[in-house]
Amino acid sequence: MTKMILVTGGAGFIGSHLTERLLQEGHSVKVLDNFDDYYPPEIKQKNLTKCMENPNFELITGDVRDKETVQKAMEGVDAVIHEAAQAGVRVSVENPEKTVSVNMDGMLNVLVAAKDAKVKKFVFVSSSSVYGKTHYLPYDEKHPTEPISPYGVTKVAGEGMCRVFSELYGMEIPMLRYFTVYGPRVRPDLAINKFFKKAMKNEKIEIYGDGSKTRDFTYVGDIVEGTILALEKGKTGPYNLGGGNRISVKELAEKIVQIAGSSSELTYTEDQAGDVIDTLSDATKAKEELGWEPKMKIDEGLRNYYEWIKERE
Ligand SMILES: NC(=O)c1ccc[n+]([C@@H]2O[C@H](COP(=O)([O-])OP(=O)(O)OC[C@H]3O[C@@H](n4cnc5c(N)ncnc54)[C@H](O)[C@@H]3O)[C@@H](O)[C@H]2O)c1
Repeated sequence: MTKMILVTGGAGFIGSHLTERLLQEGHSVKVLDNFDDYYPPEIKQKNLTKCMENPNFELITGDVRDKETVQKAMEGVDAVIHEAAQAGVRVSVENPEKTVSVNMDGMLNVLVAAKDAKVKKFVFVSSSSVYGKTHYLPYDEKHPTEPISPYGVTKVAGEGMCRVFSELYGMEIPMLRYFTVYGPRVRPDLAINKFFKKAMKNEKIEIYGDGSKTRDFTYVGDIVEGTILALEKGKTGPYNLGGGNRISVKELAEKIVQIAGSSSELTYTEDQAGDVIDTLSDATKAKEELGWEPKMKIDEGLRNYYEWIKERE
């Protein structure tokens, strides 16, 4: 059955891919996004080019922290996917106030407006950053949540609020813990984008720390698939969405240099506060309950990204 879905943050990297896919499936989509200048808003305008041509698409330019705007956006909505956030660990260390304001006040506004509008399905986008201190790997959803950045704290708080709203008001709220997402349109502040740009100019690639930190990279197409499955079948509670492609940051840089046919040298600089050491997802719950299985292998995903970025640089 087709629905009217509100995607907050739908002009961003992941939200725009998700919106395209929902429209393709015949849903009507409203995007609420304030085109925040954390990275150039023109990139976000471009992300929506295809969506703008679809008659079932509506763009609302506004802030999730503005109650009236959010209440209005909620009119006629059957389900909400809350992607809007101040993303990024490092910026949250530098400016925790903004991260808290968008990710907690803004998030609560959207949740309250959804409850008031009697929306029963609310997909909350969380993050692998909720885990923070590693007790064991891979992380399953029962792993303790001890974030080491203000960003991670806001996602733990968001999950807590969702659980309480689900219990108080009978809303169904899957909470999706995305693991390092990459692919076309990736946020410009993320390592994959920075490394490719340097590699394409044969310039030095600067790695934070000694490059031994590992990440479970997850292709944006797989994330979109998991998010839609959660919209259809997800129950209240956390779900890991991780691609199982764990490699070190150094290996990532080496792969990028090779794919781009580059002569860039790797250099190492100071570690960044708030960065976790390793991430690896155990996505058994998402497989069993949602039928989600990530398909994209890292080498192919990086080649896809290279093809995309080559046309734009
Ligand atoms: N990219 C990743 O690796 C990753 C990993 C884990 C979780 N996440 C989460 O996934 C979601 C999407 O992340 P992304 O990487 O696409 O980031 P993004 O920054 O590209 O997208 C976020 C969008 O939210 C919008 N936004 C920010 N503040 C807003 C506000 N106050 N009101 C309305 N809109 C606002 C931005 O303009 C942007 O378009 C976020 O919730 C993020 O925390 C991302």
